[in-house]
Amino acid sequence: MDIGVDTRPAEAYAVSAEFYDLLHARSYHRHAQALAGAAAAARIGIVEIGAGTGLVTEVLIDASIVPVHAVEPAATMRSLLLSRLHPPVGRSAADRVTVHACSALDLSLTEQADLAVCLRLVPCLPPEERRALWRMVADLLVPGGLLFLDRPPARLPARPTRRSLGEVRLGIDTYRGQVTARAEDGRIRCDYAYLVCRQGRILRRAQESFLLRPMTVRALREELAQAGLALEDELTADVLRVRRGVRRAPAPC
Ligand SMILES: C[S@@+](CC[C@H](N)C(=O)[O-])C[C@H]1O[C@@H](n2cnc3c(N)ncnc32)[C@H](O)[C@@H]1O
Repeated sequence: MDIGVDTRPAEAYAVSAEFYDLLHARSYHRHAQALAGAAAAARIGIVEIGAGTGLVTEVLIDASIVPVHAVEPAATMRSLLLSRLHPPVGRSAADRVTVHACSALDLSLTEQADLAVCLRLVPCLPPEERRALWRMVADLLVPGGLLFLDRPPARLPARPTRRSLGEVRLGIDTYRGQVTARAEDGRIRCDYAYLVCRQGRILRRAQESFLLRPMTVRALREELAQAGLALEDELTADVLRVRRGVRRAPAPC
């Protein structure tokens, strides 16, 4: 199966969802642990924008005591998220977590959070949607509330680069993934290729492509400021900390 770059958000990840946790769970879960302290400190609410299959959501819920809102428009990713959140016996996360089946731009949660988290989403958004996202985040955060997001790619790749997503054994099958990134019309085209093999024989192949927009931290800082959000510093080398100012930014003309 091969999915192109023009897929609408609700239908995106139709191919990648199947392989997402198999190939990413270990590293993304470890990466998300850096947010556990911020989640534990939240006193009003947490909003995770682009929750995907819930690898980060799980860390936010486990570390916190406040309501958690997980926003996920893609049906395939959301079905994995819901399966993950449905509590196994004895776990009470279901009391606190709400899943929003929509784009972040359709969300209305004014000042219901002191923590927002948005990982591996921002570079996928066209500039006008990205700017609308900052306004939405400024609206949902209380004054002084924090947003954590990952550092966007700063530039286009000079030449195509290929990276392995690793290999997972499941029974007699092996699941492999790789991503090839190349510059295309001022954006970074990422072709994800998946391969399932049984005893050395290829059972099936699948592919899905995404377009990322590079952005310097300086440009990001200016854009955030226009929405009343201040880029403060780094939580880790690749996660940035942003704070909502006390005064609201003026509404765009
Ligand atoms: C690469 S995945 C990252 C998922 C999760 N944050 C993680 O780190 O594992 C990006 C997610 O953002 C979601 N997404 C795309 N556009 C969105 C939008 N406008 N609002 C909210 N989520 C969106 C996608 O459906 C996808 O599940």
